[in-house]
Amino acid sequence: MCDPSLKRSVEQLSSSDILVDCRAILPGDENALLDEEARSIPARVLEVRRASGAARVLGRELLARLGYGDCAIPKAASGAPLWPAGVVGSFAHDDATAVAAVGQSDTISALGIDIEPAEPLPEELRDLVATPREQARLAESPCHGRLIFAAKEAVYKTIAVLDGTLLDYHDIEVDWAARQAVLRDGRAIKLRYCLSPQLVVLAYVPRTDAPRV
Ligand SMILES: CC(C)(COP(=O)(O)OP(=O)(O)OC[C@H]1O[C@@H](n2cnc3c(N)ncnc32)[C@H](O)[C@@H]1OP(=O)(O)O)[C@@H](O)C(=O)NCCC(=O)NCCS
Repeated sequence: MCDPSLKRSVEQLSSSDILVDCRAILPGDENALLDEEARSIPARVLEVRRASGAARVLGRELLARLGYGDCAIPKAASGAPLWPAGVVGSFAHDDATAVAAVGQSDTISALGIDIEPAEPLPEELRDLVATPREQARLAESPCHGRLIFAAKEAVYKTIAVLDGTLLDYHDIEVDWAARQAVLRDGRAIKLRYCLSPQLVVLAYVPRTDAPRV
């Protein structure tokens, strides 16, 4: 269903409190959208509805692993997916693959995910995406810039759901050594990532009052 090596890499982003998985986007996945979901997804383009359908098939599989029956996961007006009460989650897709992450809100306050090709960030996006400190480290690996981009998209989704703040790229500083991104207001968002065969970044905010396992 999905490149086995990508699936292995993506599954390794999971932990006891966050489930992460991926799925190939297949012809017909657009028909997996439940009525409520289809009504909430305004896109007329078949490929867009297909990718959103594939993401929701995956989302429902992950929800089933958490003990939830078939639930609709429509889109809010903001664009963010609306999960059943007690669940936080996120979707991303490229042309071929959908990824999803879910957690339970008693341990995770919010999370976000992104998938990107394992390719360099186009030169013309460097200044837009990377802060001066991040730019100084772009030469560390060919895909370093794209990984920063994916991290910021994942953090954007996390924070948009957490408190509605719409971040700009330079509001976020990625610190891979600490596996976190720090926002302009000082908040730290945790990061996990895989590099091969595609870049996938998971951002998440644990609940500070959750019991430690
Ligand atoms: C929201 C956004 C990040 C999605 O990225 P994308 O490359 O278009 O699409 P992706 O495949 O990564 O993700 C798509 C999923 O994101 C989710 N999404 C869309 N808007 C969202 C939001 N505001 N909050 C959280 N998740 C959102 C949806 O679930 C969507 O899938 P669906 O349409 O099947 O439901 C992008 O559209 C956007 O608005 N970016 C803001 C640009 C910007 O200023 N970024 C600064 C980053 S710091």
